[in-house]
This record gives sequence, structure tokens and C-alpha cells, in this order.
Amino acid sequence: MTRTVLRGGRVIDPSTGRDEVADVIIEGDRIVVVGPMAAAGVRDGERDTVIVDCVGRWVTPGFVDLHTHLREPGLEYKEDIASGTRAAAAGGFTTVCAMPNTKPVNDNRAITEMMVAKGRSHGIVDVHPIGAITRGLAGKELAEMADLRDAGCVAVSDDGRCVTDAGVMRRALEYARTFGLVVVQHAEDHSLTAGAQMHEGRVSTRLGLKGWPRVAEDHIVARDVLLAQTTGASYHVAHASTAGSAAIVREAKSRGLKVTAEVTPHHLTLTDEAVLGYRTACKVNPPLREQSDVDAMIDALAEGTIDCVATDHAPHAEREKDCEFAEAPPGMLGLETCLPLLLDLARKGRITVGRVIESLTTSPARVFGLRVPSLREGSRADVVVIDPERAWTVDPKRLHSKSRNTPFEGWSVKGRVERTFVAGREVYLHPGEGV
Ligand code: DOR
Repeated sequence: MTRTVLRGGRVIDPSTGRDEVADVIIEGDRIVVVGPMAAAGVRDGERDTVIVDCVGRWVTPGFVDLHTHLREPGLEYKEDIASGTRAAAAGGFTTVCAMPNTKPVNDNRAITEMMVAKGRSHGIVDVHPIGAITRGLAGKELAEMADLRDAGCVAVSDDGRCVTDAGVMRRALEYARTFGLVVVQHAEDHSLTAGAQMHEGRVSTRLGLKGWPRVAEDHIVARDVLLAQTTGASYHVAHASTAGSAAIVREAKSRGLKVTAEVTPHHLTLTDEAVLGYRTACKVNPPLREQSDVDAMIDALAEGTIDCVATDHAPHAEREKDCEFAEAPPGMLGLETCLPLLLDLARKGRITVGRVIESLTTSPARVFGLRVPSLREGSRADVVVIDPERAWTVDPKRLHSKSRNTPFEGWSVKGRVERTFVAGREVYLHPGEGV
């Protein structure tokens, strides 16, 4: 059995609270030993042993993304399960949850089963499908949630569309509760965002683009919190973007409701000013907001009101984004740039490193009730080795996604994933390492 020794790294494991220089020994698909100097006597080559020098590196559990668009089935020209999971591994993610706005929509057992099977055969990280709340994402008739769950869905969402009808949302929460599924809402009152291209504010006025007001998100989150309270169901806010929704989630949590939320790396780092120049790479839904929202999101994540970071990795082809702003689809890549953007917030003192790693590992796993990634002895070896100091420039051509739509093109960032292990197997090695 192959043995991998990750020697001398800073082991940061939110599942156990460990944060110290230690060795991690992986045998087969498991972590077998963790501790300071635990591998002191082990030599390279001995008993199929590979020693990886991790001095100056961080060793953490694999990341979990609750919000990935893998685009398969039907939109493979943007991304597929193979390319999307390669991008995930390069970003340190060992588990991704795939959104159902595929073609056809994942609103039935056959599509879910196909995604699970393809995830196993073509994916290099774990793929968990998210089923639709309503058939065809049309917001009217509920999908067969029991079937979706039995086939492998870990949550339900109409992401990209909001369940605006309160009666449908109430039933969705009731059913989901019965089946132990979390309802993930794309909170957008479409009656307030018809024709909207970006956040409603000074910049949208200047650019002459129709705006998407904060209240379109806030009032859906507020209503849903009341419905979650009435039904006792688990409710999760996808890509929260406003100070108002953070405040509503905070209040809901203070009353012990089963309400959780995620924030994307771009809503933590960019404002609506990024759209100046009509940059379609910065068109996203919900839109980039103002600095006051960004600050509120960072604070809410740091304090735990917002449970976790989720990438909303949304690949689109070059020709789809290379057009007039109003014609471009919303969405941006997220998996491969997530970590350095968060580390930058940590360097600025806005959030601790421990909370960053927690918001990528234990916290998201708990929101959906997934296996909690851990470096504890006996755990499945989903592990990431990170060089926190390594600077690099974001070059879309060098990303692993099939698409190139990143707003971070040309950014100099710091912090790089060097190796990713899934069940003990090295599925990603940054070129330049290990030679
Ligand atoms: O910007 C977005 N793109 N937001 C969504 O909710 C959907 C996503 C997509 O599927 O492209």
C-alpha cells in the first residue's frame, strides 16, 4: 500500500482545532497518523513511501464547494464533469455540489443518476448533485424530492431562478424537511429585477444600465426565514450579497432557526465599480454590490453569520461573454481563484486564517450534512497542501476550466494550491512541484 508522508507543514484542521507544525501520514485512502514529528524516522523509498517536504506549507482538509456549475449534461461547451472537477482539484476542492440548471434540468432521478455515475467515472473529486426544487426550474410544480434524494441529491435548489411563489416555497420546505434535504434559495424577486444588468446604484446610473436593487434579495430572504420558521425546515441562502440579507440571517440564527448562508469570493472582493467599462466578465447574478455590502459580507463571514464560502463557479464560453453587456449571460469562474482571494482578506486582518479554512471545509459540509473533511486519524484522506506565500498572476489560459470568464484576469495573487489528494490519491500536483 502506498504511503505518503506530508512532513513538517502547518497542519490546520478545523474539525479537530489542530493548528501546529506536524506530519501527516496517508496510507491507502486513509489518514493513519498525525502529529508533531510523527514521521521523524521515516525515509523516502522505504516500503513504497513518498515523502513530501511541507516545510513552509499548510496542510488542510480538502475543500467543499456547495455551489458549482459543472454544466453537464447539455452545456458541455462551457464545462463538463471532467474539466470542472479538474478545476476544483486545482483550487483545493475535493468535493463539489453541482447545481441543477443543466440541459435538461436535474429535476428527476435519471439525470441525477447520470451525474452521479459520470462523477464517479470522469470526475477526479467527489461530485454531489443538487436537485431542482421545481420541475424545469419553472417555480410551479415541485420536483420529486424523494426520488432526487434516493438517487443521490444532497440538497434542492432552483439556482439561477428564485422560487418567488410563497405557496410553492412553503410546500418545498415542508417536503424537503420530510426528506432531510436543505432548500437552497436563489433569492431574487424577479418582479424587481426585470431587465436588470447590474447592481442598482450610482454606477448603474452612470453606465445607463438597468439596476438590480438590494431589496429584491432582502425581501425574499426575509419571507423565506418566516417560512422556514413556520415549517421547521432547513433553509440556505445561496450567494448572499447584501448587508440586508446578512442582517436577516443573523437575526434568524439568534432565534435558533435552521437558516444558513454562503457568500462567494467575488462578493467578498469586488464592487459594482468593476463593471465600469462594461466588463461582461463582471456580470454576475446576484450582481457585484457596493463597498458597504462587501464589508458587511466579510464581517458576517468572519463572525459566522454567513456559514461558508461557495464559489458559484459559473463557466460561460468566450463567444457568449464577448458581446454587448445586456446580451452576456451572468456568471464567472470561481474554483481556482477562491483560496488566494480569501487569503488576501486574512492578510489584511479582516478574517482569521482558521476561519477561512473552516469556511471552506467543516462549515459547508455541515450545511448540507456531508461527511466532514478532517485530518483526524482514520479519516478519508482528502487533503490539500498549500503554499501560502507563493505569488502568481491569474492567466485565464492556464486555468483548468473549459471557459475563461474570470474577472480576476491579470491579478497578482498570493497563495497557491500545490497538491490535492482525494481518498489518498494525488489528483492535482501544481506543475513545478514534485520535480
Ligand atoms: O451569475 C450566475 N450565474 N448566477 C446564477 O445564479 C446562475 C449562474 C449560471 O448558471 O451561470
